[in-house]
Amino acid sequence: RAASTIIAIDGPAASGKGTLARRLARHYDFAYLDTGSLYRAVGQAVLAAGGSPADEAAALAAAEALDVNRIDEMAIRSREAGEAASVVAAMPKVRAAILHFQRDFAANPPGGKAGAVLDGRDIGTVVCPDARAKLFVTASPEVRAHRRWLELKGSGSAASEAQIVDDIRDRDRRDAERTASPMKPAEDAYLLDTSNLSIEAAFGAAVAIIDKAMS
Ligand code: CDP
Ligand code: CDP
Repeated sequence: RAASTIIAIDGPAASGKGTLARRLARHYDFAYLDTGSLYRAVGQAVLAAGGSPADEAAALAAAEALDVNRIDEMAIRSREAGEAASVVAAMPKVRAAILHFQRDFAANPPGGKAGAVLDGRDIGTVVCPDARAKLFVTASPEVRAHRRWLELKGSGSAASEAQIVDDIRDRDRRDAERTASPMKPAEDAYLLDTSNLSIEAAFGAAVAIIDKAMS
């Protein structure tokens, strides 16, 4: 089997990287992995067991027990799971416990696909530094908070937009300032600011960049 073609999509919370990565995977007929869902699932498992995400032993046990085929998508999308995810994600042992799964997915995409699109914070820098194309998707904190607020409101959350802005700023800080795989654009990543871009426009811009990188 030929080497898998890997597309790395990184960026902060609610920048639109997941929506973009999913569409790109469909467009190129590649497999898709939302790596944030793995950290969310670990954080959520610790919360569900009544523990604290800051308890490293509990977080590591949850990461080692993680069954990627049994992630509760509803539960992991909550605000609390997002916060817990960024706490456990700062722990090097937790990151190491799920690194192999991510790399294996990228190198051997399920379904016999010819490539894989992975989105997260450290795909272009740590998980797949040799990815064929790398994008770092951004948007202003206000735009991102508004997008996330609309989503959470749709799923019944009572959180205010001001609370969501605070969540997002906290999470950006924690993700960018940690020592283990901090969120930062890879040196060879293309920056894509979606603050004023529709989903369609962001997709068009990304395909142009990726097609060029793959040619
Ligand atoms: O959906 P959203 O962009 O809000 O976040 P996510 O991608 O689901 O990621 C949740 C948290 O997991 C992030 O705030 C990071 O702390 C962590 N994460 C990470 O450290 N590395 C990744 N590759 C993906 C997520
Ligand atoms: O994966 P990430 O947390 O970076 O963001 P997402 O889940 O892809 O996008 C967050 C929300 O913003 C979703 O409801 C998208 O429909 C919306 N969005 C948008 O309004 N405009 C874009 N250019 C991209 C996403």
